Amino acid sequence: MISAGLTILVTGGAGYIGSHTCVTLLEQGFDVVVVDNLSNASEESLKHVQTITGKTLKFVKGDICNSNDLEQIFSHYKIYAVIHFAGLKAVGESVQKPLEYYENNVGGTVALLKVMRSHNVKRIVFSSSACVYGMQQTLPLVETLPTAAVNPYGHTKVVIEQMLASVAAIDPEWHVVLLRYFNPIGAHPSGLIGEDPLGIPNNLLPYVAQVAIGRHDHVRVFGNDYPTPDGTGKRDYIHVMDLAEGHIAALKHIDEYSCEAFNLGTGKSTSVLEIIAAFGKACKKDIPYKVVDRRAGDVAECYASAEKAKNLLKWETSRSLDDMCESAWKWQSMNPKGFHSEKDIIDL
Ligand code: NAD
Ligand code: WQD
Repeated sequence: MISAGLTILVTGGAGYIGSHTCVTLLEQGFDVVVVDNLSNASEESLKHVQTITGKTLKFVKGDICNSNDLEQIFSHYKIYAVIHFAGLKAVGESVQKPLEYYENNVGGTVALLKVMRSHNVKRIVFSSSACVYGMQQTLPLVETLPTAAVNPYGHTKVVIEQMLASVAAIDPEWHVVLLRYFNPIGAHPSGLIGEDPLGIPNNLLPYVAQVAIGRHDHVRVFGNDYPTPDGTGKRDYIHVMDLAEGHIAALKHIDEYSCEAFNLGTGKSTSVLEIIAAFGKACKKDIPYKVVDRRAGDVAECYASAEKAKNLLKWETSRSLDDMCESAWKWQSMNPKGFHSEKDIIDL
């Protein structure tokens, strides 16, 4: 049975979801070691994690593709389990740079698993994604559907899921939980950590937040002719703190499974226009928007079946869309340029 005081290695822990999960882990009494190469994050996030929790964590600036970096960590710390967030995550970029995505995401995971195996650490919670379901029309998306990713980023998630299943199939000492996140948004309620995209955000929520803070004129709504009530795309947005808690639930139940996939979502979907309205309510401003063409590769609607995680991990979401938008606005308004100083930002 899992108990406080165990050491969890968090790969990619300086990033958006990783930093929020570190808060929850520390608050639950775990010791935390983070490895992150800071390719898409700032060490500042981890300083803020410590401010929020009043606890310390260990940070190793290192790369999961580098076995020596990992060797040092596993030799130095007695790791109980790994929560594996480290990876590249931009769908569009993955189409332009598929090899870099396979190298970093798949290659990095191979290196990680080999070092874990050699140190007999065989529990891993992996950050997978709803994108493994691809363009399926069957809603809600249930874990039993076949995987059918449609871009290189999604393919890396499918390959890693399959690799983990193969590893667990041959060695019963492995315990693997695959967490398929839907659309994480929001921030810690303190406003001290949050999503901090480099460059122009691809995802809706950070873009809306940057419009609200005045960094862009308007939101581009990608199509209003979908078969949804208001014509705009609908997604299953989940509060990042609910998501963080999902990882604790996974750790608590991990020894019950060889390799098992769970959706982490709310089971409900919200349209682009509903998001814009909810964010406007949170920041008390009208968010200007213009409808433009559909974005290639988008589906009309996507939401999880949240039943499996509820029944087996005893986890479900508790935070509302207003909580998501209010916390995202608090983070954005307290940190208009994210973790970056003025000199690092090329404004648009
Ligand atoms: P993020 O970019 O904020 O965090 C990923 C972290 O991994 C970053 O801090 C980055 O510096 C680090 N990293 C990348 N490659 C590394 C490497 N080779 N070695 C060490 N560190 C490395 O992204 P996030 O939104 O926090 O996502 C975390 C995980 O969840 C990713 O695997 C992502 O694919 C997955 N995911 C994210 C979403 C989403 O919408 N945010 C949805 C589904 C799944
Ligand atoms: C949401 C909705 C857009 C931006 C992506 C990845 C997925 C996962 C989560 C990692 C859609 C619309 C968006 C904008 C818009 N990430 N939109 N204007 O596409 O559901 O999922 O992030 O695993 O793999 O594909 O999220 O936030 O990009 O889009 O109208 O400027 O907002 O068309 O309907 P998506 P998103």
